[in-house]
Amino acid sequence: MKSEKNIRIALLGFGPVNRSFAEILADKGEGLYQRYGVRLMVTAAVDSTGGALDVEGLDPGRLVKAKGFGSVAGYPGKGQTGLQGLDALARSEADIVLEATTVSMQDGEPGMSHVRTALSLGKHVVLANKGPLVRAYQALQSLAQDHQVSIKFSATLGGSLPTYNIGVRDLAGCTIERVDAILNGTSHYILSSMNTGVTYEEALVEAQRLEIAERDPTLDVEGWDAANKLVILANSILNVPATLDDIERIGITHLKPSDLPLTMLGTAIRNDDGGYSLAVRPERLPEDHPLAALPPLSMGIVFHTDLVGPLAMTVNERGPKPTAAAMLRDVLEIAVGSRR
Ligand SMILES: NC(=O)c1ccc[n+]([C@@H]2O[C@H](COP(=O)([O-])OP(=O)(O)OC[C@H]3O[C@@H](n4cnc5c(N)ncnc54)[C@H](OP(=O)(O)O)[C@@H]3O)[C@@H](O)[C@H]2O)c1
Repeated sequence: MKSEKNIRIALLGFGPVNRSFAEILADKGEGLYQRYGVRLMVTAAVDSTGGALDVEGLDPGRLVKAKGFGSVAGYPGKGQTGLQGLDALARSEADIVLEATTVSMQDGEPGMSHVRTALSLGKHVVLANKGPLVRAYQALQSLAQDHQVSIKFSATLGGSLPTYNIGVRDLAGCTIERVDAILNGTSHYILSSMNTGVTYEEALVEAQRLEIAERDPTLDVEGWDAANKLVILANSILNVPATLDDIERIGITHLKPSDLPLTMLGTAIRNDDGGYSLAVRPERLPEDHPLAALPPLSMGIVFHTDLVGPLAMTVNERGPKPTAAAMLRDVLEIAVGSRR
């Protein structure tokens, strides 16, 4: 007989990503239980104005519906206006905390406090939010080790692209000599458009119309988002304790038509001493490069290694669901692992 286990989950942030995670559970929760023998129960969910809490389990579909009316605090009978993430996670009895609040470049908050508190309480953490990892990757890993819990973040390295799993698990034993990555869909879309003769301003307006660029696109077009991902990649895959200060970063707003065609690329190039030079900047790719013809709405990465040569993967990801799916794979790895 199949052994079963309830896994309690706290959803911190209920924007597109964690809302998609709840939709996936509403849609596939029973199927996941049949397949993996773990019942994924949401016991807390919070957004910026409040939350809902029930250690017996909240209905993910009703959370999504409540959010549709403004806040998960509107969840019938279990919602609380003003409920905060730290309070919710402490009372949730959660085994796994999913951190998907708004990224902060300044202090990593509120994600940083959520992650530190969750790990200190002995809860596993799965992040889509890059902020805490960029500011304190090594410290958070140490904290997780001290409390014998996992911190997983595959969604931060290009959404559903299995960057982390390939880099760490599947290239085990290889020396990674170079990484080339297009990990920011917005800047890739805009620069791809500019390569066809469109101005930066026109491409940005179109990207905003398609809802792939924020009203303030600075994080994307100045390379901050890609640099954040490169910091996490360097720490987690290349074993380099890099920070944002170690990354040469050049955005795409200043380019002239005569500079084009270019691709917004993140690169990590191994030096003779075993360290890596890290950069995010527009670069001209040779025509035979695996990312040279990457479609405008895609992301991709190439690992150049000593033993298996170049290994490339790409994804054409629209909307938040693939990112939520990346969080789900992390959750299942923890949950199924703990059941075994
Ligand atoms: N969207 C993607 O495809 C994608 C891909 C990879 C990574 N990410 C990262 O994943 C995270 C979530 O993405 P998203 O698109 O869902 O982000 P989002 O639209 O910024 O939503 C963030 C959520 O966090 C909530 N929040 C903000 N401050 C809070 C606080 N102090 N306490 C509790 N909740 C708070 C917001 O509340 P309100 O709803 O009340 O505003 C919202 O529900 C972000 O860090 C993002 O950078 C996103």
